[in-house]
Parts: sequence; C-alpha cells; structure tokens
Amino acid sequence: MKFENYVPKGKLNNKHLLTLKDYSKEEIYEILHLALKLKKEYKQGIKHEILKGKILAMIFAKSSTRTRVSFFMGMKQLGGDSLFLSTNDIQLGRSETIEDTAKVISRMGLSGIMIRTFLQSDAEALAKHGSIPVINGLTDDYHPCQALADILTLYEHKRKISGVKIAYLGDGNNVAHSLMIISAKLGIKFAAVCPKGYRPNPEITKYCLDLGGDITVTDNIPEGVKDSDVLYTDVFFSMGQQKTKEKEMALMPYQLNMDIYRMAKPDAITMHCLPAHRGEEVTEDILDGEMSVVFDEAENRLHAQKAVLALLMGDNIQQLYQ
Ligand code: CP
Ligand code: NVA
Repeated sequence: MKFENYVPKGKLNNKHLLTLKDYSKEEIYEILHLALKLKKEYKQGIKHEILKGKILAMIFAKSSTRTRVSFFMGMKQLGGDSLFLSTNDIQLGRSETIEDTAKVISRMGLSGIMIRTFLQSDAEALAKHGSIPVINGLTDDYHPCQALADILTLYEHKRKISGVKIAYLGDGNNVAHSLMIISAKLGIKFAAVCPKGYRPNPEITKYCLDLGGDITVTDNIPEGVKDSDVLYTDVFFSMGQQKTKEKEMALMPYQLNMDIYRMAKPDAITMHCLPAHRGEEVTEDILDGEMSVVFDEAENRLHAQKAVLALLMGDNIQQLYQ
C-alpha cells in the first residue's frame, strides 16, 4: 500500500521506539500521517492537549541541539512537560545501573523516557526494566527519530516515498543504519556509498536485505549515486569517536560536493541530519544551496516526534482525529 492511500488507525502496536526494526510499514505510515497532520494544524494555530499531565524524562549522555529542543517543544506543544537529565548530573553518570535508573524513573509518575546514549543495549535495558515507553534519541547504532523526520521531509519534497532512491555517502554510521532500515521497510531504494572499512554494520545490512529491501552497499561513487533522488551525508566522526587522519583520508573522496551532485538526478535534493562540518563531509555550496533541505529535516524532527510522543504516550489519540 502506498502512503497516500493509508488510512490512520490512531494507534501503534509498539510500546517503545528503539530501532524501527519492530515497526511495520503501516506503523511507520501511522507516524508520518500524524506528523503531517500535526504539522499542518500547528501552522494553522490549532492547539492540542493530548499529552496534558504527561512528563517525558530526557536522558542525555551526549550533546544535542535538535533532539533536545524538539522533544522539549514537542511535549510543550502537546500540553505536556519534560525533564532534562544530563548524565553529567544524574547518578547514571556515576555508575548507577541502567536497570535501577529505569525502575526509579518508572515509579515517579513520568510517562516516557527519551534517551540519547552510547550503547544501544542501554536504551533496550531501559525499556526492559522500566514500565514506561522509551524513545531512542540516538545511540552509537541507530537514530530512528532522525530517519522518521528525514522521510517526512522526503515526502514533502518528492510527494512520494516508495520507489524513491536515496544515496548515502560517507561513514556507515547510526544515521545510515536507521535510514537503511526505514528504506527497506518503505520500499525506498537505498545505496550506502562508503569506502571499505567504513561500511554500515553487515548484520544491519543483512537484516534489510532479508526484509526484501532494495539495498546496495558500494564504494563506487558513480554507480551508487546514479539515478538517486536524494543525496545524504553525515559527519565523518560521530560523537564519542576518535578522530583519525586515516578515517578522514578514506572518507574525503566521498565528500558530498557538486561533482558528486551532478551524478544524481537533475532534481535531486541533498540531506544532512546536522550538525554539519562544511568543507569536510559536505561542501558549503551543497549544504546552503537550493537543493538542500537540511533545515526542513531539522524542523521535521519536531513534527515527527510529536507524532511519536502522541502515539506512544497519549491516552486518547482518536480525539486528534475528531
Ligand atoms: N540531528 C541531531 O540529532 O541533532 P542533535 O545532535 O543536535 O540533536
Ligand atoms: N552520526 C552523528 C549524528 C549526530 C546527530 C553522531 O552520532 O554524532
């Protein structure tokens, strides 16, 4: 079924958002559909209080601008509240276990937890040992909220989802993994154009191929970029990674620049999850050029996550559709 024909159900079967692996195509459509609706209504000044009385704990073990602001504003705009918890300040950062943290936070009347951390297993443990929904706000392996905002942006610009081709250039990292998964689920062609040694995790690639995804992993730039509607890149060095000359030299030929842009479809758009390093993984003329939709992606973090928050934490989603 195409996204355009999807009729929302006003519910999700999932309790958490950890990787998107356990989400069906329809459930991803459900989120995107609500995100578009909430975005439109927000711009029209229509207010919702679906999360009134709900508070989201936001645990950050890594820096953030977009994730922090969008979750804070998303909760506020839906009538709820949030609690910022940096691991520099809470006991989790002083070796209290994730299991104990999950149990404690679950007993304080909070309605959900967003976590940005290093180990995916920590986000999973939080979900396992707590009793409230957990949303992955980025781990070393995945960034599902970013992937949802990116596909929302892609749809707004291309008016279609399945059949579109995304070429991701550079480091096969957390952002690449989540984009690959969402692409496989939604029938988007995905090419990871990465040098050897910096390809996406082969287990995640296999998972996507086993789903029947149209996935290519290649170090051949013209081959990977050919016919693409979207060119995507991300930083060479993700948070927590050691900067090395070796990695920089391996990735530099994959810099998203005009020479590579010309190999894609003439109306291709360019994407980046931000923060960006102009002159490193992407050139200024691409990031700030007409083809760039990076600030739409950043804004769409807000709208996509409002849909996720409402669906995971809202008591009566149907009221949004009345
Ligand atoms: N794209 C993204 O997640 O940005 P932040 O690191 O600023 O949250
Ligand atoms: N891959 C980057 C994404 C930042 C939003 C990182 O993990 O640092």
